[in-house]
Amino acid sequence: MTNRLTKLRTDFDRELAEVRTDAAASELRDRWVGRKNGLLAAEMKSLGKLSSEERRTAGQQLNELKDYVEAEIEKLLQVVELRRVAERLVKERIDVTLPGRRIIAGHLHPITLLRQKVEDIFVSLGYHIEDGPEIETDFYNFDALNIPANHPARSWQDTFYLNDHLALRSQTSNVQIHAMQRRKPPLRVIAPGRVFRRDTPDATHNPMFFQVEGLVVDRGITLGDLKGTIEEFVHRMFGPEIKTRFRPSYFPFVEPGAESDFLCFKCGGSGCRVCKSAGWIEMGGSGMVHPNVLRTAGIDPEEFSGFAFGFGLDRLCAKMYELDDIRLLYENDVRFLEQF
Ligand code: PHE
Repeated sequence: MTNRLTKLRTDFDRELAEVRTDAAASELRDRWVGRKNGLLAAEMKSLGKLSSEERRTAGQQLNELKDYVEAEIEKLLQVVELRRVAERLVKERIDVTLPGRRIIAGHLHPITLLRQKVEDIFVSLGYHIEDGPEIETDFYNFDALNIPANHPARSWQDTFYLNDHLALRSQTSNVQIHAMQRRKPPLRVIAPGRVFRRDTPDATHNPMFFQVEGLVVDRGITLGDLKGTIEEFVHRMFGPEIKTRFRPSYFPFVEPGAESDFLCFKCGGSGCRVCKSAGWIEMGGSGMVHPNVLRTAGIDPEEFSGFAFGFGLDRLCAKMYELDDIRLLYENDVRFLEQF
């Protein structure tokens, strides 16, 4: 019996020494101290076959062996656990000296950035920002703006009609009327927003684009106020050296009407790619609010006068960022937008 136990112990020691993996450690534990089929449990059972005399000594020795095996396995499992933790620490180690991962955050669209800049300038000049509907009635889009029924701008070619009387607004000038109805003069408003025209998209056209409308109505407003305002805006936008000029033009809702230009901010007037060698960049339409328009909006043209202007944000944006194609502004290609 003693020999048998000695052999068992040598076997165990050898097997213990051979354990290399976690799985082998669990196997060793099950094989030796497993409750049902463990070697030591079997040995305990076989004690029953001995005489009571033999059983006492053998039982004692077997218990010692069992204590020993259990203690060794306990130690082994602790080592296994420590090794597992150590391996995990190595594997999941964080190198705190590595640069952090950049969080890719979205940002405002270039047209929005430009619109905000324009808004800031006019708000600092005492203007309110007005909003108006993109789906508009004939009355606000045309009639109230003194655009006669046979005017070419009303034709089906220019305007997206939804039915006989509703259309997507073709200009932000509709907000002039809403503003005059909402507020009493003196009033100073700008109205940035989307407008829609049945244009085929190309490098300089898009069926949806952005305008900024301006309207000032008060007693004694003159053409000089209009010119001074446009000039001040251009100075704040591009710098005091950028001159403006006015050319007579026609819009049904103003009289007199004008187109304004400003000196090219890139070349200062000598001619370059941005201004297409013209030296000047077109800004947009403007003029003194037509008495018919004031009257329709409920304002007495004998008492009040006003000026209005409107310009396109998209083309301005394209010039400022030297874009060859305005459509870049609507495609929302992240590679393009990321550059702003
Ligand atoms: N609404 C005109 C356009 O779309 C611009 C304009 C606005 C002209 C205000 C005069 C006064 O072209």
